[in-house]
Amino acid sequence: MSPLLLLLLGLLSVLLCVLRRRNRRDGEPPLIKGWIPYIGKALEFRKDAHQFLEEHKKKYGDVFTVQIAGKYMTFIMDPLMYPNIIKQGRQLDFHEFSNTVAPFTFGYPIITSSEFPGLKEAINRSFQLLQGENLTALTESMMGNLMVVFRQDHLGTRPGENEGWRSGSMFNFCYSVMFEATFLTMYGRPQSAHRHSGMGMLKEDFLRFDTMFPLLIAQIPIWLLGQTITIRQRLIEFFLPHQMSYWSHTSQFIRTRAELFEQYDTLRDGDKAAHHFAILWASVGNTAPATFWAMYHLVSHPEALEVVRQEIQNVLILGGDNFRSDTDVTFSRDQLDKLPYLESAINESLRLSSASTNIRVAQEDFSLRLHAEGSVAVRKGDIIALYPQSMHLDPEIYEEPQTFRFDRFMQDGKEKTDFYKGGQRLRYYLMPFGSGSTMCPGRYFAINEIKQFLCLLLLYFDLELEEGQTRATVDNSRAGLGVLLPATDIRFRYRLRNV
Ligand code: HEM
Repeated sequence: MSPLLLLLLGLLSVLLCVLRRRNRRDGEPPLIKGWIPYIGKALEFRKDAHQFLEEHKKKYGDVFTVQIAGKYMTFIMDPLMYPNIIKQGRQLDFHEFSNTVAPFTFGYPIITSSEFPGLKEAINRSFQLLQGENLTALTESMMGNLMVVFRQDHLGTRPGENEGWRSGSMFNFCYSVMFEATFLTMYGRPQSAHRHSGMGMLKEDFLRFDTMFPLLIAQIPIWLLGQTITIRQRLIEFFLPHQMSYWSHTSQFIRTRAELFEQYDTLRDGDKAAHHFAILWASVGNTAPATFWAMYHLVSHPEALEVVRQEIQNVLILGGDNFRSDTDVTFSRDQLDKLPYLESAINESLRLSSASTNIRVAQEDFSLRLHAEGSVAVRKGDIIALYPQSMHLDPEIYEEPQTFRFDRFMQDGKEKTDFYKGGQRLRYYLMPFGSGSTMCPGRYFAINEIKQFLCLLLLYFDLELEEGQTRATVDNSRAGLGVLLPATDIRFRYRLRNV
């Protein structure tokens, strides 16, 4: 379709929306439309979603509908109501994102059951290969790959220079290591080398694509986004089947998906590659910034860092391992499960940095039950949205919510799971990975790989923030879509510990 025709179609749909402006009906939540037709409150929401929702909650209560970029989104703000939304089945569909938005963003065709019979179901089944027994193999592979990247890029000694101190940009440091080690773990390595050439370029392209990600998710046509179409094409081409066939040590998860795609003549090589690229985004896009935040908070709280480092050392000693900085170290899946303070610190940084929206789409007009006494009317096509960041930053649930407390999720030496609102215990209190049937299938792997990264970092290095910097703050441009990036990078110093 020509760009001009697309533009005309876009204008036509805006015009239709203006003509069909909606009014609130009996039983429906308060309706906030804003004064700009179609766009509604999109700009205010995008600027600072958390503040926007808090202000509207004060004014309209726990449930209200907002027009955002042509869609009507009903926000449920009270976390005590979350279980009712999460368990809703028939009338609420969870797969809006994977069915329509993801193909548009990553550049593969929409998976219809007539053109690709059984593909959707098989893709969903493949997600199990990120969990259960397969998690052990993934975790072991990640350990080896992290060690390779750390050893070759950061563990060489530099005697005499600044007493061994080097400086770096923390976000760039985390992103480079996690991007490459995760890539190697998922997709494998060249048959004759431990690392791919061109990883630096691939990472740069990935980050440039990531900057445009919120606009693609908002369904802005890619041809309006400058270089993005070329960058996405380069990223996709990295995964063309003839290239991947030369890689070894590929994870079971990716191998199974590659074999699955081969069964469909209706998928072109570029489509298969685009599916693999989408998984690269899913596996790195949130994990790398989450790793940054965990590292940042620990390095800026030296007393917390010491407790966590001691816990890591104890696990190694218990396993009969005497750590020495000139040898490689391994953590098994079992050992990673025995690091509650580290896990609490990671959860605390996810609480402070994650901002995903949980979305369900109403399949018919119906009455949505919210609690024992109340329900609201919902129209077919409306989006029901949970915004867990509001819960994560609620002072009634988390005292001093903006403060990093590394042991917030610990009680009597074990994981703390009781958090309260209005005197009632919350079933859901930490939701960086979504909820219900679309909950992130990579969540156990993500936590394990962040733990592994931090274990190596804390064991091998002394770490300090460079002086004269302001605190790291979040960049809200990805609000609603996952873990937020820092607004600016942070300078730090690191040197090999003498152990
Ligand atoms: C800190 C890291 C991560 C965070 C915060 C995160 C968060 C999320 C969220 C919020 C969703 C959407 C859930 C929903 O729709 O309600 C999701 C989906 C997904 N995530 Fe993650 N994720 C992380 C890491 C990973 C990793 C490491 C992998 C794979 C190795 C992964 C694979 C996926 C996949 C495949 C989906 C789509 C599932 C579907 O379509 O049903 N994620 N993730």
